[in-house]
Amino acid sequence: MYQPQIGDALELLDTPSMLVDLTLMEANIASMMQRLQARKVHVRPHLKTVKSPALARKLLAAGAIGGCVAKVSEAEVMADAGIEDLLITTEIIGQPKLARLVSLIQKHPALKVVVDSLAGAQALHQILAEARLEINVLLDLNVGQNRCGVNPGADARTLAHHIGTLSQLHLIGVQGYEGHLQHIHNPEERAQRCRQAMQILVETATQLRTDGFPIDIVTTGGTGTAEICAEVDGVTEVQPGSFIFMDTDYHHALGSSYANALTILSTVISRPTPTRAVVDAGLKSLSTDSGMPELKGQDDIAYHPGGDEHGILTSTDNATVPLEIGDRLEFIPSHIDTTINLHDYYYAHRNGILEAIWPVATRGKVQ
Ligand SMILES: Cc1ncc(COP(=O)(O)O)c(C=O)c1O
Repeated sequence: MYQPQIGDALELLDTPSMLVDLTLMEANIASMMQRLQARKVHVRPHLKTVKSPALARKLLAAGAIGGCVAKVSEAEVMADAGIEDLLITTEIIGQPKLARLVSLIQKHPALKVVVDSLAGAQALHQILAEARLEINVLLDLNVGQNRCGVNPGADARTLAHHIGTLSQLHLIGVQGYEGHLQHIHNPEERAQRCRQAMQILVETATQLRTDGFPIDIVTTGGTGTAEICAEVDGVTEVQPGSFIFMDTDYHHALGSSYANALTILSTVISRPTPTRAVVDAGLKSLSTDSGMPELKGQDDIAYHPGGDEHGILTSTDNATVPLEIGDRLEFIPSHIDTTINLHDYYYAHRNGILEAIWPVATRGKVQ
């Protein structure tokens, strides 16, 4: 059986395969770092996009101070691979997760977590007290996304006060993620609403400092807003993730500041009528939660999911689809995080020659 090797041409790969164009990815990393570091904020990329310690190390080498992960299971993989400065950006609730967290911070004490409730803070405190461990925590603040996060104002101050009474928790920062603004197409509207959200975040940080808490970290931002957040005084770090590869959803919102660096290579396996071609990449290869993937370089051909293992291609004007059985096509995912989570390996190439094969190490790490 063929095993892909460094130096192989992409033509040898079986399909579907997840490809990374290294030249484009490296340009995306350099460009984000350059824009953000010029604004004097730290960059803590969200590693739930890349799901790979090898790629996390590339981000660190480019200047990132650490990483974010969404789940304890992701933190385990990243920390064991040597990525020590991690923030888990999702609330950790329930005994199984708390027990796992305790084992993790025994080995990796730099790990930081977010808290948005008294119940969550108390449970964390209790299990840490039993294990004689302490942890740095950030208050997770609702800056308008209305997902997790304590409300600003009195609720945030009251929760901070309670955290202050828990000996095992040290409140050192505030997280306020404005996920609802990332994909706003109008740049002025995105910037204006982001500045309003940042106002809530930095004002809360100031209040908490006035209340006596050493709030050193004020963390926020994604690919769509990181550069806007970075201009706000008081924001200390930003958490973009998708910029490294991009996807069509972000591309439609942000234009071409970052390139689509990741594609899914697929093969035409059937050509039942002149107006229809079928490829071997279905819902198990390309996610569709943020719209349809796009065929690279051919916007007159539309992709439709044809079930788990098939994608159906039609011409946007119902004309003959100019494809043959055996043709190999690259699709740009509509949502990068959920698509990467479907694949075992990245096949990274430069000008069509394989240069690296990276396992998607935190694929499926949802706990
Ligand atoms: C808390 C948090 N920070 C940062 C991000 C990074 O966002 P993006 O991948 O859109 O850059 C996300 C994405 O969902 C997130 O949930």
